[in-house]
Amino acid sequence: MVIAAAVLILGVLLGALFLIPRKSAVAEKSRTNAADRKKVYRVYSKAEIALHNKRTDCWIIVKDRVFDVTSYVEEHPGGDAILTNAGSDSTEGFYGPQHPGGAFQLIEDYCIGELEK
Ligand code: HEM
Repeated sequence: MVIAAAVLILGVLLGALFLIPRKSAVAEKSRTNAADRKKVYRVYSKAEIALHNKRTDCWIIVKDRVFDVTSYVEEHPGGDAILTNAGSDSTEGFYGPQHPGGAFQLIEDYCIGELEK
């Protein structure tokens, strides 16, 4: 009887051990899916992009791709320079000598789509 109870408890504990990691794996997967969903790109017209031309709502165009950098404006090491062409083409400013490299990878996180041809 005692042995049967011990085996039962051991079984439940082992089952729990298998279940816990599986649950967090599911949570991890749904987080990944949510991140992927954010990456649904769209095509934007110049007129639509032009509406996002301020510190609190800033989109820029770099090489015919559209970036929503609103959440980066306050972090930008170059301060308000990032707002110079807010709502329009910032390719020239972005490819200036002040960006020795890191900025090119960083900007990818903010891509929301591309410019209408
Ligand atoms: C849109 C036009 C932009 C202009 C005119 C501009 C201008 C500048 C300037 C003047 C600096 C130099 C700061 C200093 O020397 O202290 C700078 C640095 C920097 N900017 Fe921008 N910026 C622009 C957009 C962006 C964007 C969109 C990103 C990234 C999402 C970015 C990321 C950075 C980073 C990481 C630095 C530090 C230097 C580096 O590691 O490359 N910038 N920027």
